[in-house]
Amino acid sequence: MAMKKIGVLTTGGDAPGMNAAIRAVVRTSLNYGLEVTGIERGFRGLYERSFIKLTSRSVSGIINRAGTFLKTVRFPDFKEYEVRKACYENLKEEGIEGLAVIGGDGSANGAYRLYNDFGFPVVLIPASIDNDLYGTDFTIGFDTAVNTAISAIDNIRDTATSHNRTFVIEVMGREKGNLALEVAVACGAEIVIIPEIKISNEKVVHLLKEQEEKGKESSIIILAEGAGKADDLTAFLQRELPEREIRYSVLGYIQRGGTPTYLTRVLATRFGVAAVDLLVKGQYPYMIGIKGNELVHIPLGEVISKQKPISDAYLEIVSRMAI
Ligand code: F6P
Repeated sequence: MAMKKIGVLTTGGDAPGMNAAIRAVVRTSLNYGLEVTGIERGFRGLYERSFIKLTSRSVSGIINRAGTFLKTVRFPDFKEYEVRKACYENLKEEGIEGLAVIGGDGSANGAYRLYNDFGFPVVLIPASIDNDLYGTDFTIGFDTAVNTAISAIDNIRDTATSHNRTFVIEVMGREKGNLALEVAVACGAEIVIIPEIKISNEKVVHLLKEQEEKGKESSIIILAEGAGKADDLTAFLQRELPEREIRYSVLGYIQRGGTPTYLTRVLATRFGVAAVDLLVKGQYPYMIGIKGNELVHIPLGEVISKQKPISDAYLEIVSRMAI
């Protein structure tokens, strides 16, 4: 029998473009004649039965707003089978027959478990400023976060250049360096330090000395938060290079907000439409992704068990540009 109602939720860290994705899910579903239930606060709201009926008007005027109007929380209790079972019962009781989950790697795991335990139809719409999900070139929000970081770092570079200072700039990315690496290439950073390929503090000192010999008077070091703390690295460098002025900035949560860029909005909308198309066709559990400019769908089991590789080419570019 054809599906009548789908649910949509956002979970994990918020990312610009989540609202645009919800809008696309809702309106595509309505196009199919489906009812749509919004689940507030992610899997936690599913557990607590925080359901709202969504209409086309519920998602008016949100394509340009970052964050998620459905709200999001991190909900570690979802790792417990009993909690998931209660969530599944809630879905059934509410008459929800398919679920669009919008979020990052933790969300992928949660969505997969819901399928794996109960066979529930789920599709993941990848949204995370980290861009760390296997199977897609880009996640929703990444482009916006990179642009936000670029504009902040461009401002910092003005001071770096004027004072001949070295700056350590910590960007987000707890486990993965994709954001840091992209930002490093885009900002013309001299050095990038990411969790996947850590370089020792001594090596950083060596590189800075080398660059100084080539006439560089200021340097930008991009540090992914998962690879160390900006204050620690700065203190070390200042001890080793006392004649230099070394400062640091932690970009933090400014990277998670801000008006979604054109690329983020278009990606979010395309992903939202494609996710509902898949659910309606009875195809699950998949993650929607993009390869080149083509939409793809990847089995969720693969997404959660494989690692997105770091771009060696980008790493090489950073070092080749730092002459
Ligand atoms: O996954 C997105 C992200 O912003 C990471 O880059 C960061 O490490 C983490 O979330 C911070 O999590 P929280 O919002 O729970 O502090």
